[in-house]
Amino acid sequence: MGKKIVVITGSPRKNGNSLAMTDAFIKAAEAKGHSVVRFDTSFMKIGFCHACETCYKTGKACSFDDDFNTIAPAILKADAVVFSMPVYWYSIPAQIKGVIDRLFSFVVGGKDIAGKECALITCCEEEDMKVMDGVRIPVERTCDLIKWNMVGEVLVPGVLEAGAIGKTDGCAQAAALAEKI
Ligand SMILES: Cc1cc2nc3c(=O)[nH]c(=O)nc-3n(C[C@H](O)[C@H](O)[C@H](O)COP(=O)(O)O)c2cc1C
Repeated sequence: MGKKIVVITGSPRKNGNSLAMTDAFIKAAEAKGHSVVRFDTSFMKIGFCHACETCYKTGKACSFDDDFNTIAPAILKADAVVFSMPVYWYSIPAQIKGVIDRLFSFVVGGKDIAGKECALITCCEEEDMKVMDGVRIPVERTCDLIKWNMVGEVLVPGVLEAGAIGKTDGCAQAAALAEKI
C-alpha cells in the first residue's frame, strides 16, 4: 500500500546535486504508489529552536510561528521522512537544521511519532566519505532517539558544481532508495 512520505530538503540550488537526487527519489516513490509532500526549507521561513518548551501549548507545534508549523503536521501524519541536503562546513546546512532542532517540539509536546521510516540523501565536494559524517551521524542518532527506522542512505562524495551529480550514480541510488520504503 502507498505510504505518506514527507521529503525535507536543504539546498538553495534549484539545479543542484541534492535536489536532483531528491527529484529522482520522488519520481521513483510516486511511481511505486507512495504520496509525497515536499518542503524545500531554503525557500521557507524557518527559525531556530528557542528551547522555551512551550511546544503545542498554543495549539501549534512551535510558539514561534513560522513555516515549521506547516511542516510539523505533515511529519505527524507521515509514514516516512526523507531528509536531503548538501554538506556545509562538515555539518548540516542552517536552513534545514531549524527543522531538525524543532523535532524537539514532538518530544516536549508528547506526540507519538515513533515507528516512522527515515532516509537520508546527502552529498559533498570532497572525496572522503567521512566528510558526510557531520550530516549522517546526527540524523542517524536523531532517528535512534525518536525511534524512527533508518531504512536507507544515499551518500555521494566528489560533487561540487551544480550538475556534477550527473557524472555519478547518485540519482540512480536515490531512485533505488524508494524501493526501501
Ligand atoms: C556554504 C558551503 C559549505 C560547504 N562545505 C563543504 C564541506 O565542508 N565539505 C565539502 O566536501 N563540501 C562542502 N561544500 C560543497 C557542497 O557540499 C557541494 O557543492 C554539494 O554538491 C552542494 O550540493 P547542492 O548542489 O545540492 O547544493 C560546501 C558548499 C557551500 C555552499
